[in-house]
Amino acid sequence: MSVTAVIGSQWGDEGKGKVVDYLAEQSDYVARFNGGNNAGHTVINEFGTFKIHLVPSGIFAKNTIGLIGGGVVIDPQVLIDEIEMLNKAGVGVDGRLFISPRSHLIMPYHKILDGLYEEAKGAGATGTTRRGIGPVFADKVSYNGIRWSDFTSDTFEKRLSVQVELKNKIIIALGGDEIKYSQVREQYREYYLKIKPYIKELFSLVQDGLKTNKNFLLEQAMGTFLDTDWGTYPFVTASTTIPSAASAGLGIPPKYINNVIGVTKAYTTRVGAGPLPTEITDTKSAVYEQFGEVAATTGRIRRVGWLDLEIVRTAVELSGTTELCLTKLDVLSGLDEIQVCVRYELSCDPVRYADLDSYGLEQIEPVYKTVAGWKEDISKAKSFDELPVNAKNYVRMIEEAAGIPVKWIGVGPERDATIRR
Ligand code: GDP
Ligand code: IMO
Ligand code: MG
Repeated sequence: MSVTAVIGSQWGDEGKGKVVDYLAEQSDYVARFNGGNNAGHTVINEFGTFKIHLVPSGIFAKNTIGLIGGGVVIDPQVLIDEIEMLNKAGVGVDGRLFISPRSHLIMPYHKILDGLYEEAKGAGATGTTRRGIGPVFADKVSYNGIRWSDFTSDTFEKRLSVQVELKNKIIIALGGDEIKYSQVREQYREYYLKIKPYIKELFSLVQDGLKTNKNFLLEQAMGTFLDTDWGTYPFVTASTTIPSAASAGLGIPPKYINNVIGVTKAYTTRVGAGPLPTEITDTKSAVYEQFGEVAATTGRIRRVGWLDLEIVRTAVELSGTTELCLTKLDVLSGLDEIQVCVRYELSCDPVRYADLDSYGLEQIEPVYKTVAGWKEDISKAKSFDELPVNAKNYVRMIEEAAGIPVKWIGVGPERDATIRR
């Protein structure tokens, strides 16, 4: 039996979707345990190219069962569209995708409030995905949430009517448009009928799996530094993103998680506001262009920066990461020199990430080491030995800083563009 958590070591978008798709073949279960459809995980394989928001990225492996745990928040329309899209592509999710009745629903008022709060905060806005994530998790922990389990009785109607009344007061005060109870009720009852065949309490299934030596692959959403507690608060997301979240979000006791794969991009990206110590701010520079990415969920341009080893080291320590998967090494090809942040200094003294808040992180000086780049295209490389010496040195430098091995190296976005060491 193995329980492997795949955790992004930076600010999200490290390439978790690709890695989970690559590893899923050996897994009996692949599961999402946190976040919601703020996630956008890219998968490119024999079925096509997909941007997945809710269904686990390992669903393409035909003998693997997909689970969406109670820790996930769901926009029903997004889930329905995704299931339809996967079925159309020949992936066939029916009968092997199960959703916890404990998972909370993103309601229309959550999305409206997300937008209104962002507008109200002005320059201090978080830069959320505006998918209603903050407001739905706020309702969850303040006992105002609505779950799939509420639909089996008239609990849904009772809870919804209270919430619509309450939320309308806030929406109107903030200058938004009132929500109509009957419209929401009808729409969500329709959603429930479509999602009902997939809803199943996961407790026994997970417990039986653990007892019968099944393999679980746990797919984190967001990255370590978007974690509510350990991220760059308040520029974070509203869920716990470290492996322990799988315990509450899926019902897997922490002692069973025996592998933690840290997915680490060969440089750094971030979407939305908040500190990014190694940020490349010259948007006209060639390297900015080279690292450029478009966000999978919102289509925004991702901010980019050099690799930050203080961030990677902290992520490894925090999550008990056992091995790294380095993604996008191919993107560095062609650079004469590469900058890497090896540590932070504050007023000339060494300082650790964990000793700083977001304000402090804006004050630090990243200490860079310049390493030699390589010119060769590495996108067809199949083994570590085939990589140019400076690319090998780059990988070894990361291993040394992190204190754990780099077991996989991504050299392209497709599933097969992966070197296993
Ligand atoms: P996730 O949210 O962690 O799953 O990552 P995203 O899918 O949002 O962003 C990662 C981007 O990098 C996507 O466009 C992937 O197709 C792409 N990608 C992943 N691994 C590699 C790699 O090794 N090389 C290249 N060139 N692209 C990659
Ligand atoms: P994946 O799983 C990158 C960021 C948003 C914003 C902050 C809060 O694809 O790596 P939210 O909508 O969650 O309230 O926004 O978190 N964010 C992500 N950034 N990748 C993600 O997911 C993200 N999910 C949320 O940009 O800064
Ligand atoms: Mg993403």
